[in-house]
Amino acid sequence: MDRFEGRVAVVTGGGTGMGRELVRQLAAAGAHVAMCDVSAEHMADTEALARAGAAPGVRITSFVADVSDEAQLVAFRDHVARAFETDHVHLLFNNAGIGGGGSIVTDDRAEWDATFAVCWGGVYLGTRTFLPMLLAADAGHVVNTSSVNGFWASLGPMVPHTAYSAAKFAVKGFTEALITDFRVNAPHLRASVVMPGHVGTSIVINSQKAFGRDPKELTEDQLAQFRERMGKRGLDLSGVSDEDIRTGMQAQAEQFRDAAPLSAAGAATVILDGVLANRWRILVGDDAHGLDELVRAYPEEVYDERFVERLRERAMFGFMR
Ligand SMILES: NC(=O)c1ccc[n+]([C@@H]2O[C@H](COP(=O)([O-])OP(=O)(O)OC[C@H]3O[C@@H](n4cnc5c(N)ncnc54)[C@H](O)[C@@H]3O)[C@@H](O)[C@H]2O)c1
Repeated sequence: MDRFEGRVAVVTGGGTGMGRELVRQLAAAGAHVAMCDVSAEHMADTEALARAGAAPGVRITSFVADVSDEAQLVAFRDHVARAFETDHVHLLFNNAGIGGGGSIVTDDRAEWDATFAVCWGGVYLGTRTFLPMLLAADAGHVVNTSSVNGFWASLGPMVPHTAYSAAKFAVKGFTEALITDFRVNAPHLRASVVMPGHVGTSIVINSQKAFGRDPKELTEDQLAQFRERMGKRGLDLSGVSDEDIRTGMQAQAEQFRDAAPLSAAGAATVILDGVLANRWRILVGDDAHGLDELVRAYPEEVYDERFVERLRERAMFGFMR
């Protein structure tokens, strides 16, 4: 993929964050862009922003679809074919993602399964659904968003993080295997795995809302569960009021968005530069590069407190403290 101009691009999870910025930058570079998301409202905002900066003649379309549901993705694909009057797409960004299902021991199974179904299922079904249109193109590129949690299954030694990590490892493994599959069976296609570090987006806020855990609306039961969970991690909240817990959770989610070392726009630029350079492995952010090195240097330590100390010494992933 040596240019975006005139290409047809599909972006899942285009409503906010990196997906929104991918849509904006692709449209600015002259690609026709189709996005899906679960939020029509967020996509309308993305569409307005993208149109304002789009190259002349660029077409942009939005479609409400949940990437964990194959029938909805097929409906999205049919919409893309109709809206752009095309039988092919050149670029597929399987970007949609959500956080949740931290513990397989204590968390609700429905939340665990939903997190895995979006973060892994969305990538798998997205690839399957759009494959015929990629095969029909003269050149194509599948760009799957994993995470640093695709090579490090952790948010620190006391924070269970099973569903998201399992899904992101799956995305990484699948995408790496696609490289060979495409080389043998579809040599005009490429695959890249994207592994961002901490990027300033609303993923924490969006995930809290999706799983009915908006801090402002937490029920007494949810607050009690939260206190118990923190207690297991050695944090006694008995002297902290419910109101202060709500405010603290909201502040943490906003801090994740506002105090990140890299913006969503900066991350999208790294991703698109990586695609143009035909790199299969796209680490996003200095923290992702640093973590990649540390995980290789200290493989037996990575789930211990000592490893987080190494991150602290390098001022990486401050939100984990
Ligand atoms: N922000 C980070 O620090 C970070 C780090 C590593 C990886 N990632 C990954 O990057 C990707 C983009 O996340 P982001 O940080 O921009 O978050 P975000 O929440 O801002 O964007 C994700 C978008 O996906 C949408 N979405 C969620 N579930 C969906 C579903 N079932 N179907 C369709 N759309 C859905 C959301 O509505 C949202 O618009 C995700 O895969 C995420 O896991 C993010």
